[in-house]
Amino acid sequence: MDITILGIESSCDDTSAAVLRDGVLLSNVIASQAVHVKYGGVIPELASRAHQQNIVPVVDTAIREAGITVDNIDAIAFTRGPGLLGSLLVGVSFAKGLALAKEIPMVEVNHLQGHIFSHFIDLPDRQLPHPGYPFLCLLVSGGHSQIARVTGPLEMEIIGTTIDDAAGEAFDKCAKIMGLPYPGGPVIDRLAAQGDPKAFRFAKPQVDGYDYSFSGLKTSFLYFVRDRMAENPRFIEENKADLCASLQRTIIDILLAKLIRAAKEYKIRDIAIAGGVSANSGLRKAVEEEGRRRGWRVFLPELKFTTDNAAMIAMVGYYRYLRGEFAPLDLAPVARLEEL
Ligand code: KG4
Ligand code: ZN
Repeated sequence: MDITILGIESSCDDTSAAVLRDGVLLSNVIASQAVHVKYGGVIPELASRAHQQNIVPVVDTAIREAGITVDNIDAIAFTRGPGLLGSLLVGVSFAKGLALAKEIPMVEVNHLQGHIFSHFIDLPDRQLPHPGYPFLCLLVSGGHSQIARVTGPLEMEIIGTTIDDAAGEAFDKCAKIMGLPYPGGPVIDRLAAQGDPKAFRFAKPQVDGYDYSFSGLKTSFLYFVRDRMAENPRFIEENKADLCASLQRTIIDILLAKLIRAAKEYKIRDIAIAGGVSANSGLRKAVEEEGRRRGWRVFLPELKFTTDNAAMIAMVGYYRYLRGEFAPLDLAPVARLEEL
């Protein structure tokens, strides 16, 4: 059909643009913002300023790398939310400006749907495995931990969600407690590989249904480390790998327990994971192992589609385009999922 979608993502600290043609990725450019590292977390004001600096060259590069021109674009898909309002505003405003100037229709995209439907992107040289409907998707990012029951393109129901901190936040905050750089997830992942996951035990939450909670784990980790440091100021330094391995194991156990229960209850065997934390090597291995044990078909996203990227935004944009769901020019970004 030859539908070409330009995707734009600016919800947090990555400025990204991608071009997708009929679900096949032609380019995916991501500018990650190093400015936040020294603060140990994303500073919203600095994030929007960096997006403003990045957005034009990033979009330009994505179009060039795709081998197309602006005139070939059938629709501009942009992240409307959830995310940081100032950051979203940069992407939304840019999309509107381009749409207006070049008379290109726009489609709005829910960032979380982007993560989930990233499983349907194909590469120019090969098809990637796509889950069959219905499937369960464990969506784990810096802002959200959810289990979605996905029944068709853009058709989904959230059956469990985080009631406080997200899994990625647990990684990031515990990394900060250990004095590790931001974002903590990838650093803990790397250190955990050299540690003993059974060295330390941390509290696991008791939450009803399929909802998640990670703030208790973060607090118990903080007190545990603080107590040990009072006895031995070198405790973190001497036990870094074991701390990381034990923490990572606990987070994975919490995530998997509910996913396994949901798969049983809904009798679904196609199981996918998505979002920044789905890059975690321990989680990927654990889901695959469960899959072998339980006869699941497991779908792990390509690493480049785990953290924030515009390719996934373009993918959802493509589905919306096919349905004729276009966004008006006066659309405003939305920070919270509940308001989308
Ligand atoms: O999806 P994402 O890029 O942004 C949001 O939408 O929030 O997720 C970012 C989160 C961060 O918390 C980061 O620490 C985590 O994903 N993350 C990881 C890994 N890579 C990124 N967590 C654990 N292990 C990783 N390898
Ligand atoms: Zn994300």
